[in-house]
Amino acid sequence: MKLFMDTANVDHVAEVAGWGVLDGVTTNPSLVAKEGKEFKPTVLAMCKLVPSVSAQVTATDFEGMKKQGEEYASWHKHVVVKVPMTVEGLKALHYFRSKNIRTNTTLVFSVNQAILAAKAGANIISPFIGRLDDIGEEGMDLIAEIVHAWSFYKFDTEVLVASIRHPRHVAQAAALGAHISTIPYDVFKKLPQHTLTDVGLKKFLEDWERAKKLQVV
Ligand code: E4P
Repeated sequence: MKLFMDTANVDHVAEVAGWGVLDGVTTNPSLVAKEGKEFKPTVLAMCKLVPSVSAQVTATDFEGMKKQGEEYASWHKHVVVKVPMTVEGLKALHYFRSKNIRTNTTLVFSVNQAILAAKAGANIISPFIGRLDDIGEEGMDLIAEIVHAWSFYKFDTEVLVASIRHPRHVAQAAALGAHISTIPYDVFKKLPQHTLTDVGLKKFLEDWERAKKLQVV
């Protein structure tokens, strides 16, 4: 499973890219607003760190999405144009596929939306599981349904688990065979941690000191 970071913070991307585990970044207008930095330099800085950076169009009509998406794609070959799951968005996905511009469909909340986006030509679809959990549904059930449906067909569209809230979501996404998880920085920082690892390492180091005193090393 590929691991992406869901952020518009370049320092956070650089930090986790340094672990050697980061395959991409997803941004959205809310994340960009939170950082308060200029969009294009942010995207370009991230493109130097990872091979896939989703940049979301804010136009809602086909012509506007086409114009914005073509501009983003011209910035860097690592840019993936993020398009909302609407009828206008489907037209844009179809157009971008014909131009070999990579796309990610955002705000997917049903299997039918996932199928439409894949058929229109999306390279990635982003079902938002946390937001479904927030309204009392089981977000991970949607991933299970999509992955199951995908097993019958030959879609080349990757299933990206979005709106992740905690480490368990990442493990569940992997167990279901999702292609990508996009993970917020604070959740990413929790992934390498385990109490038994800390306890175990402390004990190894203490024993090593004891072994040195006994001159067995
Ligand atoms: C994905 O690309 C989205 O940016 C993101 O996962 C949305 O997550 P949220 O529900 O935490 O805002």
